Amino acid sequence: MKLFSLAGKVAIVTGSTRGIGRAIVEQLALAGAKVVVSSRKTEACETTRSELVAAGHEAIAVPCNVGYKDQCETLVRTTLQTWGRVDVLVLNAAINPYFGPMQDMGDEVFDKMIGTNVKAQLWLCKLVCPQMAERGEGSIIIISSIAGLRGNSKQGMYGLCKAADIQLARNLALEWGDKGIRANAISPGLVRTDFAKVLYEDPERLKRRLSAIALGRLGEPNDIAGLAVCLASDAGRYITGQNLVADGGETIRENL
Ligand SMILES: NC(=O)c1ccc[n+]([C@@H]2O[C@H](COP(=O)([O-])OP(=O)(O)OC[C@H]3O[C@@H](n4cnc5c(N)ncnc54)[C@H](OP(=O)(O)O)[C@@H]3O)[C@@H](O)[C@H]2O)c1
Repeated sequence: MKLFSLAGKVAIVTGSTRGIGRAIVEQLALAGAKVVVSSRKTEACETTRSELVAAGHEAIAVPCNVGYKDQCETLVRTTLQTWGRVDVLVLNAAINPYFGPMQDMGDEVFDKMIGTNVKAQLWLCKLVCPQMAERGEGSIIIISSIAGLRGNSKQGMYGLCKAADIQLARNLALEWGDKGIRANAISPGLVRTDFAKVLYEDPERLKRRLSAIALGRLGEPNDIAGLAVCLASDAGRYITGQNLVADGGETIRENL
């Protein structure tokens, strides 16, 4: 048995045109999955899809802003119409529009961030889990963050959403475990993507951050993608309800 094979499987990855999602969709395809590329921008989805197809993979592009329920429904419906199944759902898209104390944050920011980063994850799970349960297997992977494991005075709302995502994985694991569906979170540390640029482009800030990371370097998108292949495939078949941290050894550091 090839434990890391995804041959015959269908995988949706939200936010898969750039950064971590892009690396995940490529690695799932390399493991043999038919993949669904998705993000808010139609052109970016189409470009990623054609690059995957040119590399010999099976891929479709379905634009979807996960903050809108009708677009989530279209994403799942189009996948089912095309390939008849969803075996792997990677909930990667997230937003972080607010930097500052929660004291000063408006209700509209709270609602938008919870809506896009937490409620949308549940919408998509509700849409895919019943058909996974019919086949007796499936894997949900939620991209959380180490921000969900620690307090944060400037990105508190982001951390709150990411902590909720870890809890969602635990809840889903218990709700669906007897139907063969596994649900897990992955919590990356600081990964070199557009999203995190503000956290590493200042040299002083970067130096401080690197000094806290055991491996002494930032993460790259593929540092996260391997874990997603593991959780999506039989290699991870006894792992459920967990939050797997891939942070180069940042959160294990003792207080100095
Ligand atoms: N980078 C890090 O250091 C880091 C650390 C921990 C956790 N994470 C998490 O990793 C995930 C991916 O982050 P990243 O750093 O790879 O970001 P990124 O490089 O900015 O890529 C984000 C992707 O999501 C899409 N996207 C953004 N908003 C969306 C929405 N509302 N609906 C659907 N797609 C959307 C973007 O494409 P469009 O613009 O076309 O929509 C893009 O494909 C996020 O959940 C983030 O919280 C990142």
